[in-house]
Amino acid sequence: MADQAFVTLATNDNYAKGAMVLGRSLRNHKTSRKLVVMIGPHVSNPSRTVLQHIFDEVKLVDLLDSRDATHLAMLKRPDLGVTFTKLHCWTLTQFTKCVFMDADTMVLANVDELFDREELSAAPDPGWPDCFNSGVFVFRPSNETHGQLLTYCTEHGSFDGGDQGVLNGFFSDWATADISKHLPFIYNLSSIAIYSYLPAFKQYGANAKVVHFLGQTKPWSYTYDTKGKRLMGDVQDPCMHPTYLLMWWEIYSTAVLPMLFKEFGDQPFHSGCVAVENGDGKAAGLHHNVPSISSEERKQMWEQGQADYMGIDCFDNIQKKLDSFLK
Ligand code: UDP
Ligand code: GLC
Ligand code: MN
Repeated sequence: MADQAFVTLATNDNYAKGAMVLGRSLRNHKTSRKLVVMIGPHVSNPSRTVLQHIFDEVKLVDLLDSRDATHLAMLKRPDLGVTFTKLHCWTLTQFTKCVFMDADTMVLANVDELFDREELSAAPDPGWPDCFNSGVFVFRPSNETHGQLLTYCTEHGSFDGGDQGVLNGFFSDWATADISKHLPFIYNLSSIAIYSYLPAFKQYGANAKVVHFLGQTKPWSYTYDTKGKRLMGDVQDPCMHPTYLLMWWEIYSTAVLPMLFKEFGDQPFHSGCVAVENGDGKAAGLHHNVPSISSEERKQMWEQGQADYMGIDCFDNIQKKLDSFLK
């Protein structure tokens, strides 16, 4: 099975945490396939080292960005232009067949049977089920297809500003041509679907094999109390099911964080964890809970369209900075 691989993508240290948990979850469920992570140049060296411990191959790729502000605004995700980078997975021609999985997915069971499917197999998108969701898909690496996809981007762009718009345009007969290319929803269960059709989740949710933390809020956006093993603050976000979030954090805090601490040493990074004493909300032993990148690196990322629009580079913070100059 050396010619088949699970592939993911992380262009920064936050998504790298997601990739680490995904990789660990695949290993925990004893996949027989190779694990590959594509990374962008902004992933820090300590994160790369941890990825190397978990994945068989860490491949540095060029960032591709749609820079399509209009469509991305419609999607309410200005940060997703860079998901065009995902298309580079077709260049992994050392493999004959691969399964791409977003870095915000996690497996709950062995899913090696996905390799029985053909390109392009994927599950329906919960928002528009005649489109497939590009968070999990089966594909065949090919430089020819890669070239055709890039040409498609130049000629047609993406209707959502991200890779999913391109891929649905390119593999446009997915909805109608071949039912075997429709992956069951249990291979890409997004938390959104849980809340929009709760009775179905109650009926079938126990069969889920892959969860997808689709949407703006990601598991690593939360703060986790390692002592109490609970999420802190407001966890009412309807995009997340607490059970799966806790499973993600369990893997992250036990299997990933020790490696991150070791590699980062004294260098600051955002672990997302606190250890709370006495249940009084007083945070004790706050480790490494500061932003992970220097302002020079942030400037570079901003200039390359890689701003953290929803986090540190959000409008409010920019406004505050401008106000501080005007005082
Ligand atoms: N991604 C990345 N860096 C980014 C944004 C996205 O590496 O800044 C990758 C990552 O693998 C992620 C995927 O692209 O899982 C798709 O983005 P996301 O999962 O945030 O989209 P959603 O599933 O929420 O629509
Ligand atoms: C989707 C998919 C994600 C993709 C994004 C942009 O919601 O879940 O994988 O990157 O749209 O097209
Ligand atoms: Mn995703």
